[in-house]
Amino acid sequence: MLNLAILISGRGSNMKAILEAIRSNKLKGIKKVIVISNKSDAPGLKIARDEFGVQTVAVTTKAKEDFENELLSVLNRYDFGVNDTLICLAGFMRIIGPTIINKFRHKIVNIHPSLLPSFKGLNAQRQALDAGVKISGCTVHFVDTGVDTGPIILQKCVPVLSYDTDQTLSDRILVLEHEAYVTAIELISSNRIKVKNNKVIEN
Ligand code: GAR
Repeated sequence: MLNLAILISGRGSNMKAILEAIRSNKLKGIKKVIVISNKSDAPGLKIARDEFGVQTVAVTTKAKEDFENELLSVLNRYDFGVNDTLICLAGFMRIIGPTIINKFRHKIVNIHPSLLPSFKGLNAQRQALDAGVKISGCTVHFVDTGVDTGPIILQKCVPVLSYDTDQTLSDRILVLEHEAYVTAIELISSNRIKVKNNKVIEN
């Protein structure tokens, strides 16, 4: 059984997909969930609270070290321990520092809207369009101390069409993000994968 701490910064559609999968029992083995945002006005916080009755917390501390400590103390306060917690970054637009990453080693996952290692960082869909690639997609990966690096759990791909805009490509990728994130959490919660030599393999 796993606790999920979902970290968001904005609309929270990936968070919503995860919460829906838990509610419909598609995602099993989840004990409790908390949603944490670095923005107190993130629309996803309201969705988590009002539509799913999930505990939400805003951690808006600016300074990096204070932010990390505050995040750790929230997890501690709500009893989300290292051994039974998965931290899911779902559109969380703040870098998580080494204090938390080393403590929660291979227990933090992220979703990114490109086929990593291509197009790390911001505006991944725009980067894909600018590069003229014909296929893009999304990646769920364990988080390490780099930006959008770390062992890849799974990827899903979409065609890039000649008339795509940022919006149309992002929308097409987002549909797959929602599926990919739920599948990745399922793989972890059912203990079907592990990390070996910095790669994700089946258990
Ligand atoms: C998603 O497309 C996610 O992949 C991306 O932000 C969006 C959040 O949407 N994350 C990153 O770019 C992280 N590098 P959501 O708030 O609706 O889940």
